Amino acid sequence: MDYFYGPGRNHLFVPGPVNIPEPVIRAMNRNNEDYRSPAVPAMTKTLLEDVKKIFKTTSGIPFLIPTTGTGAWESALTNTLSPGDRTVSFLIGQFSLLWIDQQQRLGFNVDVVESDWGQGANLDILASKLAEDTAHTIKAVCIVHNETATGVTNNLAKVRKILDDYSHPALVLVDGVSSICALDFRMDEWGVDVALTGSQKALSLPTGMGIVCASPKAIEASKTAKSVRVFFDWKDYLKFYNLGTFWPYTPSIQLLYGLRAALDLLFAEGLENVFERHARLGKATRLAVEAWGLKNCTQKEEWFSDTVTAVLVPPYIDSAEIVRRGWKRYNLSLGLGLNKVAGKVFRIGHLGNLNELQLLGCLAGVEMILKDVGYPVKLGSGVAAACAYLQNNTPLIASRV
Ligand SMILES: Cc1ncc(COP(=O)(O)O)c(C=O)c1O
Repeated sequence: MDYFYGPGRNHLFVPGPVNIPEPVIRAMNRNNEDYRSPAVPAMTKTLLEDVKKIFKTTSGIPFLIPTTGTGAWESALTNTLSPGDRTVSFLIGQFSLLWIDQQQRLGFNVDVVESDWGQGANLDILASKLAEDTAHTIKAVCIVHNETATGVTNNLAKVRKILDDYSHPALVLVDGVSSICALDFRMDEWGVDVALTGSQKALSLPTGMGIVCASPKAIEASKTAKSVRVFFDWKDYLKFYNLGTFWPYTPSIQLLYGLRAALDLLFAEGLENVFERHARLGKATRLAVEAWGLKNCTQKEEWFSDTVTAVLVPPYIDSAEIVRRGWKRYNLSLGLGLNKVAGKVFRIGHLGNLNELQLLGCLAGVEMILKDVGYPVKLGSGVAAACAYLQNNTPLIASRV
């Protein structure tokens, strides 16, 4: 029984954890297994091969780690860097802030490039830092692909181009927690050295698996990196990969079967279709926000996120009250504004296994809440704008054509 039971479904529109699709729930509803039997390594081998597809890499080596996005960050950093190493890291919202804090606590020398919350990473400053750094003191550029707190997507192709322009050898470490499996991600093409995500985001699994993928250059760096690491040491994983048993410690059997089902769903839809669906839902959400007369926290179109929209509210409204109302009255879960934008924004997550009509339910809920809290919204205005766009742009379902 739920705590605080409410009839019908909870409309889960926080930007992660997201809804888990029924086939994935069913795939995970199973007993434990001996992970040393021949079955689990055989399954793991195919999972590792298939996971490379979500990163768009052929040369990367993936690690399925029992952890969350935060642990995946730590895995990326401690395996590739040594204490005192200089990193360049962009502060644009709560999650990039937390990653910078982790880098500082791990003893790296973090060169923080700060922008207004609502803006993307300042890549002009990256260019000038790389230009000055002829001695190659910068060991890594750390960037959050999609800042979940503000709904800002950074341009990773541009990051690669800037590094190439200066022939700079810094590693590129990317947090893809709220982008991978929802936004196009090209690890090999963009020369990303470590990419990472968490299972509870666009993969639409329960929380508990951090998926980290390392380029050959990152694996090479891990051989000399001096950061202390035990649980996250890639060396232990690689040892068991070579033995063909795959696991240095006990994996969650249920999550492995869930991952199998989640990947099967993504591949059945087609990754490119998945990206288009996210683009469509993102655009529909932004049209609704505009129709309500509200502003997107994201300051420029080039940074608009197709996985989360942070909506600015007028100063006389506390955005936390919007989130509270949604949950208490309409069984709708929206994302809170975090840290600097607490009280000022609420967030609509539109990532993972989600479709047009589910999103419209959320948008209808937001309209009623806005009216509840005294914002003069015309009921139906956002829904109508989103519907008009979706009716014109939603393709037939791939398997039903
Ligand atoms: C972009 C980003 N990075 C990292 C994290 C941290 O992930 P976790 O909460 O799974 O540790 C989050 C969580 O929402 C996130 O959105």
